[in-house]
Amino acid sequence: MHKDCERIMLTEEQLRTRITEVAREVDERYQGKRPLVVGILKGSIIFYADFIRHLSCPVELDFMAVSSYGSGTVSSGKLKIKKDLDKDVRGRDVIVVEDIIDSGFTLANLKALLLERGANSVVIVTLLNKEERREYDIEPDYNCFDIENEFVIGYGLDYDEQYRNLPYIGILRRELYEG
Ligand code: PRP
Repeated sequence: MHKDCERIMLTEEQLRTRITEVAREVDERYQGKRPLVVGILKGSIIFYADFIRHLSCPVELDFMAVSSYGSGTVSSGKLKIKKDLDKDVRGRDVIVVEDIIDSGFTLANLKALLLERGANSVVIVTLLNKEERREYDIEPDYNCFDIENEFVIGYGLDYDEQYRNLPYIGILRRELYEG
């Protein structure tokens, strides 16, 4: 375990088993379709790569990078698009792949945006769900793990851009982010 982790929350094996299970459920829903699978950079990259390998339907891959306007703690504005999709979503069945849903700001706004752009359907797949932090009216259609409100790192998730490459989900030691 990395020295900056307090403990491992989800092991590589737990991640592999549950992601396979969820991906197979999603796959059944898309038989005969050709979804556009949208990864939200950067946190989702490892989950995304593992998830899509279990889909048997033909898929197209695309990515977006978004953030909320301003750096304040209150997310009141709309999404700022740092990198937009290459594809036109009009008429497409879109699967949005996210590492974590927290307040729900990102996914609530993103889903609204994709529907506004004419997507035929938008289904949200998340690796982690911090239900108790929710402020916006949005739920994932598929979620791998419900977690407590801990500072999690690894498997794509960062603290100050570090730890994304850890192969498991760990809890960051408190003294590293508390003054
Ligand atoms: C994280 C995460 C979601 C968002 C969730 O992204 O990947 O996009 O925050 O929070 P919310 O539900 O309160 O909107 P972050 O801005 O940390 O970017 P990153 O994926 O590049 O790490």
